[in-house]
Amino acid sequence: MKTVLVIDGGGRGAALVDKYAQSRNVKKILAVPGNDLMQINVKKPVITYQHLKTTSIKEILRICKENKIDLVDVAQDNAVEAGLTDKLLAKGINVVGPTKRAGQIEWDKAWAREFMVKYEIPIPKFYVFRSTKAGINFIKKNQDLKWFVKASGLAAGKGVIPAPSAQEAIDAVKAMQKFGSAGETFLLEEWLVGEEFSAFALCDGKDFHIVGFAQDHKRVNDGDLGENTGGMGCVSSPMIVDKEIQKQVKKIFEKTINGLMVEGRPYKGVLYLGGIVVDSKVYVIEFNARWGDPEAQVLLPSIKNDFLSLSNEIAKGRLKKLKIKVDKKVRVAVAAVAKGYPVDYQLVKGKKILGIDKIIKSEVKVYGAGIKKANKDYVVSGGRVLYIVGDGKDVLEARGKAYKAMKLVNIEGNNLHYRTDIGARDVDRMQGLFESEHRSRRPERSQGRKK
Ligand code: AMP
Ligand code: GLY
Repeated sequence: MKTVLVIDGGGRGAALVDKYAQSRNVKKILAVPGNDLMQINVKKPVITYQHLKTTSIKEILRICKENKIDLVDVAQDNAVEAGLTDKLLAKGINVVGPTKRAGQIEWDKAWAREFMVKYEIPIPKFYVFRSTKAGINFIKKNQDLKWFVKASGLAAGKGVIPAPSAQEAIDAVKAMQKFGSAGETFLLEEWLVGEEFSAFALCDGKDFHIVGFAQDHKRVNDGDLGENTGGMGCVSSPMIVDKEIQKQVKKIFEKTINGLMVEGRPYKGVLYLGGIVVDSKVYVIEFNARWGDPEAQVLLPSIKNDFLSLSNEIAKGRLKKLKIKVDKKVRVAVAAVAKGYPVDYQLVKGKKILGIDKIIKSEVKVYGAGIKKANKDYVVSGGRVLYIVGDGKDVLEARGKAYKAMKLVNIEGNNLHYRTDIGARDVDRMQGLFESEHRSRRPERSQGRKK
C-alpha cells in the first residue's frame, strides 16, 4: 500500500487528495500545506503540514524520506517555478509534475510567448519590455489600442492588468514595479474579444491525452462584473468547445508538447491551455503548468482510471499505451467566498462557517480551501473558502445540485458571497438564447516582437 504527497493547499489540492484516496493502492495521503477540510471526503488518513509552503523544499524532502513517499504530485505553480520536481527527481523520488524548465511555459510569460511564436501557435500580438520608459513610449505612440499588461513572472494571480485606454495602460506599466522581479520584464498584449475556455492535457514528455475542457468565471460578481479573482466557479464541458474547437486545441497541444520536447524541456504532468475563441478561431491566452483551480474540481472527478497508476504512467513516460476513461457528466463548481474578497476580507477571517455538516450529507462534493478547524467549528482562513461541485447529465442538473447545497452554507454575520450565474451561458445556450460574442472580431495574424 502506497503513500502519496500532494503539493497544494486549496480546492485543487483537495480534489487531488480525494482522487488519490479513491485509488485502491493508496493507504495514506499527505499534503503540503493542505487544509483542514481535505479529510472530509476521504476515509483514509490525510495529514497536512499547514505551517509549510509549497516551496519549502528542504522540509518537503525530509517529509518524503521520513514517510517513505511513493509519489509526489507537484500541483502548484510556485513549487514548479522553485524547481521542486527537479529537486525530488535528483533525490530519486517518484514525482508527477513539470520540471522547472518545462514549467517556464507558465512562470515566464515573455519566454512562453516567444516559444509560441517559434512553434506557430496562434496568439494575440504582443510586445515585450524591460523598462517602464520604453513601455510608456510605446503606448503613447499607439494611443487607440486596448491592452492587457502582464508581468512576465508569477505574481500570485495579480500580474495581469486589463487596460482599455492609453492612460490605464500607462498606469498598469507603472504598477509592474510592485511585482518586484516578476514585473521587471512585462508584456503588452493585444486585447482579444471573445469567449474563454480552458483545456487540460495529461502529458508524459512526448505523448498527451486531453482529459477535459472547462470554463472559469473569474470576476467576483454576476454578469462578469467586478474584480478579477482566482476563480468564482466553473463548468466542465462548456458548449463553446465544439468539435471544431477541439480539433484546433488538439493541434495546439501537439505543437506545444512537441516543441517543448525539441527544446529539451519534455513536459510531464498536466498542461493547462487557457484559450479564447475569436471568430471561431482559438488563440492561446496562456499556458499553466498545473491543473486550474477550480477547473480541477470539475475535471478530476470525471477521470475513471486508478489515479495513482495514471500518475505513475505519466511519470514513467508510458501514456501512449494507456486507455484513459472519463465519464460524460457535466460538473459545476461554485466558490463560496468571504464577503469583500478579493479586495479586503480581513474582518471575515476567523468567522465561523455554518452548514458544513449539512452539505457533506447532500449529493455534492465539497472541497475546502481557505478554511481552518478551530475546536469543533470550521472558520474562514482565506478568501476562497470552499467549493461545492454538483454533477449531472447536463449543466442544468449539475448547477441545480450545486446551488441547492450552497443554500445550506453561510458565514457568521451573513458574510458569505457567491456568484449565482455559474454555468448560465450554457444554460442560455441550451435554451437557445445565447448569441455568442466570439464572432465579433477577427484579429490579424499574431506576431511577436521584442522591444
Ligand atoms: P491570467 O492571469 O493570465 O489568467 O489572465 C487573466 C485574464 O485576463 C484571462 O483569463 C483573460 O480573461 C484576460 N486576458 C489575458 N490576456 C488577454 C488578452 N490578450 N486578450 C483578452 N483577454 C486577456
Ligand atoms: N482558474 C484559473 C487558474 O487556475 O489559473
